[in-house]
Amino acid sequence: MARTTSRLTWWDRPGLEVRAGRLSIAGRDAESIAREHGTPLYVHDLVRVEEQARGLQGALGAAGLRHRVRLALKAQREPTFLAFLRALGAPGSPESVGMDVCSPMEIRWALDHGWGQEEISYTGTNLSARDLDAVLTAGVHLNVDLLTQLDRVGTRAPGSTVGIRINPRIGAAYPGGGQTYAGDRPTKFGIYPEHLGEALAIARRHDLTIDTVHVHAGYLYLTDALPIVDETMRRVAEATRSLVEAGCPIVEVNTGGGLGVPFRPGDEPLDLEAWASVLARHLGPLDVTVGTEPGEFLAKQCAVHLAEVVSVEDRDGTTFIGLDTGWNVINEHFVYRIPYHPILCRAADGEPVARVTVAGHINEGNDLLAEDHPMPQVEEGDIVAIPNVGSYNASMTSVHCLRPEAPAVFFSDRA
Ligand SMILES: Cc1ncc(COP(=O)(O)O)c(C=O)c1O
Repeated sequence: MARTTSRLTWWDRPGLEVRAGRLSIAGRDAESIAREHGTPLYVHDLVRVEEQARGLQGALGAAGLRHRVRLALKAQREPTFLAFLRALGAPGSPESVGMDVCSPMEIRWALDHGWGQEEISYTGTNLSARDLDAVLTAGVHLNVDLLTQLDRVGTRAPGSTVGIRINPRIGAAYPGGGQTYAGDRPTKFGIYPEHLGEALAIARRHDLTIDTVHVHAGYLYLTDALPIVDETMRRVAEATRSLVEAGCPIVEVNTGGGLGVPFRPGDEPLDLEAWASVLARHLGPLDVTVGTEPGEFLAKQCAVHLAEVVSVEDRDGTTFIGLDTGWNVINEHFVYRIPYHPILCRAADGEPVARVTVAGHINEGNDLLAEDHPMPQVEEGDIVAIPNVGSYNASMTSVHCLRPEAPAVFFSDRA
């Protein structure tokens, strides 16, 4: 089938295409999937996850780095998704994808879905004594992100081995996007480089071994942000060298997540070769395993949300398109203001006739999925698709208004 990418279909890629004017997901007609399974519905193209994982592993390998890719489980935890991910490689092999978790229940979830304790790293914040007991008993690798928490770990488990998360005071984000992990303003994450001496003193006091340097300071960044990633990694490498010089046997630098994918008109895919070469320049000389733990990059493009149009009404000059879904099940826009791009399934490359507001069925005025959004003529009963919602949407479902979670279907091949 000829590709129809145009200014109207900037999102077109393998697994999300226009076929004879209609949207297809994993090679299947999107509207037909909705009619068969009902709405609201998440539809997953698992092949996309494999493509993304292989892209990362391939780029890191080609840059000459020993590497370990992990999924940030908070982004996507559907059992079928996890079974597919598990099958990408034997435990511990370079082809496998490990797990980054951030709560005791996520440890349990990862273990229950096939990951071994040695494949799981825990990077959480503000751990209670209860949390710490769960993490330490599970035997997973812990990255600690505050001096006071390092002291807590030492008191509870003297002699153990941990990683430390550092805050490089800089972080990359998508164009126009904000930064809440590391920047000029103080954040709750990570030990500042000038406090590494204190971290070492705490570690010595409790006989802790520091074997990993961790940093997570990105948010959906694309190629234009690589100069910031470059400076971030320069600071991370400097911090790592100072720990090594102080006698820490650092075996891994975990570069966190934050890698972006196109989600707005005009966005270009992240240049993975350029990204990996930035990491190689700074971390290669350290002779460590380079870890990465993306959520968005691995999962965002793998799912599309389908919903039925239940109202079309002009209201004081604004056309509202009402859907049978809401922010309780599709919430990355509601929570993080990440824009969605609703597509009319039966006319996926149709010329827009109006700029509309797309609204959900939760009884709140700000349950809006898109505003001032160009769309072809939409009718009641139509099916609308919202692509690029495989991460931080279904996983953040709430039961607000007692609306249930949205069912999901999964395709592990492309028709
Ligand atoms: C420690 C850590 N690692 C990885 C991630 C995944 O980030 P992303 O989904 O942006 O790649 C997060 C997200 O909050 C995080 O806090």
